[in-house]
Amino acid sequence: MAGGFSVSTSGKHFEAKITPIVIISCIMAATGGLMFGYDVGVSGGVTSMPDFLKKFFPAVYRRVQEPGIDNSNYCKYDNQGLQLFTSSLYLAGLTATFFASYTTRTLGRRLTMLIAGGFFVAGVAFNAAAMNLGMLIVGRILLGCGVGFANQAVPLFLSEIAPTRIRGGLNILFQLNVTIGILFANLVNYGTSKIKGGWGWRLSLGLAGIPAALLTIGALLVVDTPNSLIERGRLEEGKAVLKRIRGTDNVEPEFLELVEASRVAGLVKHPIRDLLKRRNRPQLVIAVALQIFQQLTGINAIMFYAPVLFNTVGFGSGAALYSAVITGAVNVLSTCVSIYSVDWLGRRVLLLEAGVQMLLSQGAIAVILGLKVKDHSNNLSHGFGIVVVVMVCTFVSSFAWSWGPLGWLIPSETFRLETRSLGQSVAVCVNLLFTFVMAQAFLSMLCHFKYGIFVFFSGWVLVMSVFVLFLVPETKNVPIEEMTDRVWRQHWLWKRFMDEDEQDRL
Ligand code: BGC
Repeated sequence: MAGGFSVSTSGKHFEAKITPIVIISCIMAATGGLMFGYDVGVSGGVTSMPDFLKKFFPAVYRRVQEPGIDNSNYCKYDNQGLQLFTSSLYLAGLTATFFASYTTRTLGRRLTMLIAGGFFVAGVAFNAAAMNLGMLIVGRILLGCGVGFANQAVPLFLSEIAPTRIRGGLNILFQLNVTIGILFANLVNYGTSKIKGGWGWRLSLGLAGIPAALLTIGALLVVDTPNSLIERGRLEEGKAVLKRIRGTDNVEPEFLELVEASRVAGLVKHPIRDLLKRRNRPQLVIAVALQIFQQLTGINAIMFYAPVLFNTVGFGSGAALYSAVITGAVNVLSTCVSIYSVDWLGRRVLLLEAGVQMLLSQGAIAVILGLKVKDHSNNLSHGFGIVVVVMVCTFVSSFAWSWGPLGWLIPSETFRLETRSLGQSVAVCVNLLFTFVMAQAFLSMLCHFKYGIFVFFSGWVLVMSVFVLFLVPETKNVPIEEMTDRVWRQHWLWKRFMDEDEQDRL
């Protein structure tokens, strides 16, 4: 067991060991993230499986099997129902976030995770047993509710239970588990697509039951965070839990700080009004913009629809799923790069480097598809097919060490204590909203823009890189409560929003 001191948000040092209970919490986070990632990754794979299409989307099935004169290569999969299968999850998720923010506060983090687990288990059951499109969509909506509750509660649970010195790393660990979930789904899809008999897709959707069950059991076993117990007035219980998770009886200073933080947070009577105050504007603008931009990189066009996309450009069903496994693996490995470099190279370097790499990769994909894949003919040779896969991989890797984790990390470390929980809900909500839009629109956009879709995304990459260059300050190695002085007051634009800070606080 590693011993040591942790620096609190106020800069004080508290005694804290990395105890088994903290390790169990990490495993919990793994299952919450795995579940989200599995949902992201599984839909594209099953929608490229002929048996699944035949059962639920016969019109798409016919188009894919017998491309006719009126069917462009780029439009084979353009179907609102098919997109709804993917996107309904995110719409449900963003609606659930509003309730999740309430339950995390009133019922606690642990019970909210339990609610998420319940939704996940029910959703998986509906999906794996689906007899018609209705059951399929109901299942996705239930899973979406699970995502809304889990994505709010799990990161909060983690950051509250972890000693401060490993909090940043733990935050990215959640994203790492999202990517592992996506890869796991890609691998499962690759395996189940080989099953003869037409039930492979059921197994793909049903195996989500493993992370779902683990999250539910985990939520039953762990204790709630001291912060949450104190927030709900259960002070003695909060102190006892603090002793257990920190592995020491010397917790009085940290306990008093938690009580004080909870008292100050309790003074905020109108959290929304507070979040909208001028002094909180820079953090809010950055959090919202990062979430929107993260989705406008086009990442989920790849994560949701890679097999469909590879199919569109002429790969067979097996090769398309196989290629999705490769991009999934690149996603996981590149996220590890971020864990190691984020506190060393800094956030801005990673975001700006990734901007250049994404722009070049998307440009190359657009040129190759533009030259080789026409509406009704496809001259993509084996060699060029490989170049497309490599370019998709360089795109995914740059996303995975920048916008993927940092889109989540930066909002979580910049909001002030009073606005942190609401700010996190706003971030999750905006993210799921734009994820929904991308999921619902991508296949139609591919049909209309054709290869130009990659030019569209690269245009946004340019815009977001300029945004980072001028408006996103470096937050590496800055203690959270010192952000105002060391970051915002030093920034050429944002310092103007801090002028009224003191006066505003009174
Ligand atoms: C994004 C997801 C995306 C995933 C890919 C996350 O940060 O929020 O929308 O699917 O990264 O790894």
